[in-house]
Amino acid sequence: MEVIIKKDYDDVCSESAAIIEEAWRRKNNLVLGFATGKTPLGLYEKLVEFYRQGRIDFSAVTAFNLDEYVGLEASHPQSFAHYMDHHLFRHVNIRKEDIFRLSGRPPDIDEHCRAYERKVRDSGGIDIQILGIGKNGHIAFNEPGSSLSSRTRLKILTPETVAAIRPFFQDEKEVPRFCLTMGIGTILETKTALLLASGKDKAGIIARAVEGPLTASVPASALQLHARAIFVIDEAAASKLTKRDYYRWAYENKDRALDPLKIIPLKTKG
Ligand code: GLP
Repeated sequence: MEVIIKKDYDDVCSESAAIIEEAWRRKNNLVLGFATGKTPLGLYEKLVEFYRQGRIDFSAVTAFNLDEYVGLEASHPQSFAHYMDHHLFRHVNIRKEDIFRLSGRPPDIDEHCRAYERKVRDSGGIDIQILGIGKNGHIAFNEPGSSLSSRTRLKILTPETVAAIRPFFQDEKEVPRFCLTMGIGTILETKTALLLASGKDKAGIIARAVEGPLTASVPASALQLHARAIFVIDEAAASKLTKRDYYRWAYENKDRALDPLKIIPLKTKG
């Protein structure tokens, strides 16, 4: 795991956008997984900016949405499909046929979830999965208690999550209680998991996810098993990590680590 600590939210978004830009330079047909929530909004703004500046071209990029509320049409303003269109897809040149999303109203949920997993596999796998983190440690909508090897499936939202989303819905009857989400096992198979977090509200759960025990009670702790998980977080979100200084040092000396001989000078004879 790599923990990158940045001064503030804007720097978290710039760093994350730079990681994606760099990956795109190496592979133009990047397969990206997208998360919703407040946290990645600044990153999506930067990606739109990079597109306008000609720094990233999305014409060969494939996109997968991470989750969706059950019951909502894609056109509903609170659907994750609408969120992604509104904040990113409609502003860049990604091809519509290369955007894959979980439907909120599939005719057969199990088949829909299996087909989604097949699509991810057929695309060659997700190169970079963007993630946020819920205050209870959920990633995507894998609520606490989710199996660490779960696949894309229906999940029941916890009362805390329902309370957190309620203000966004005018009609109580519309407030979702269920969702479809990629599983933790699905996320662990992505090539890079890029988790963004900002603010002191997230400090406790970031400390548990990064430095606490691996447990289904904190789904984000499963990223400790990921082959390449990068946490890009601001000072406030990092404030409860005990090894902050080490993470900072490691990040600042990353280039030197590529050539270990520069770190440990060899004694020359004579
Ligand atoms: C929702 C999404 C998650 C997201 C989380 C945190 O539950 N399903 O993917 O990470 O919210 O949201 P925020 O970034 O607004 O704190």
